[in-house]
Amino acid sequence: MEVPARAKLNLTLDVLGSRPDGYHDLRMVMQTIDLSDRLTLKAKEGKGICVYTNLHFLPNNEKNLAAQAALVWWETRKEPPQGLDITIDKRIPVCAGMAGGSSDAAAILRALNAMEDTPLSPMELARVGERVGSDVPYCVLGGTALAEGRGEILTPLPPLPQCWVVLCKPEFSISTPALFAKIDRVRLRCRPDTKGVIAALEAGDLAGVARRMYNVFEDALPLHRRSRVNDIKNILIQCGALGASMSGTGPTAFGLFEDKNCALEAQERLNGLGGEVFLTQTV
Ligand code: C5P
Repeated sequence: MEVPARAKLNLTLDVLGSRPDGYHDLRMVMQTIDLSDRLTLKAKEGKGICVYTNLHFLPNNEKNLAAQAALVWWETRKEPPQGLDITIDKRIPVCAGMAGGSSDAAAILRALNAMEDTPLSPMELARVGERVGSDVPYCVLGGTALAEGRGEILTPLPPLPQCWVVLCKPEFSISTPALFAKIDRVRLRCRPDTKGVIAALEAGDLAGVARRMYNVFEDALPLHRRSRVNDIKNILIQCGALGASMSGTGPTAFGLFEDKNCALEAQERLNGLGGEVFLTQTV
């Protein structure tokens, strides 16, 4: 069985505070994009899960989130773990703030659920995903959604009007737990206008959403990293993006475009800057 695992972007990301369980309360508007990994699942004789990927540094055993998702699935079904080979053709940049690993996990849950005679509803499946990681419930559901709490409290929103997306992941990676730890000590300059973004979505106003995009984690980046993210955002805006922001804990920065030629120009200019550059669309 072959399944796609789509990446996500944060149209907004606000951190409301830290929690006694070590997590943070968040408020984020999330959007699925077409950039995706491809996963192949193959049942095998015997026990154990093997993960094969085109990136040698990713875990090939039960440490991989895709394998963890399969184990959590069987545990929830109260069934013994089965033998499974998972092949992941990774295209979503890794450690990039785009939920690549969570999206692979969600794809495994969707695939295993689809094989059942009485599959769970998407919301029920999202609840299973909670046990794998904070971003997994959203990745199960996809589309445009408000994510709150740890990220698992989901409210579907009117879809973002279809547009082009140019994104660039700089050469460096960001540790999500480290940036979450740092955000508690950072004085935030401003907060995203989440209500305004939701109102713009309700009005089908792409430009209204794009100009309100904001991610508080940009303030927590070390200065030299922040300036690299700002360089990318400036190029996107100079090329005609309706708005530009960073996704998740970064460092990927992206811009939304109505005009494909503007998006192509941005892609070309960013290609000259280094890093991983993609032109894709919202889903
Ligand atoms: O849930 P997940 O395993 O993806 O989270 C990875 C890490 O990110 C957590 O261990 C925590 O440090 C941080 N995190 C957080 N608050 C959230 C989500 C993640 O502090 N809402």
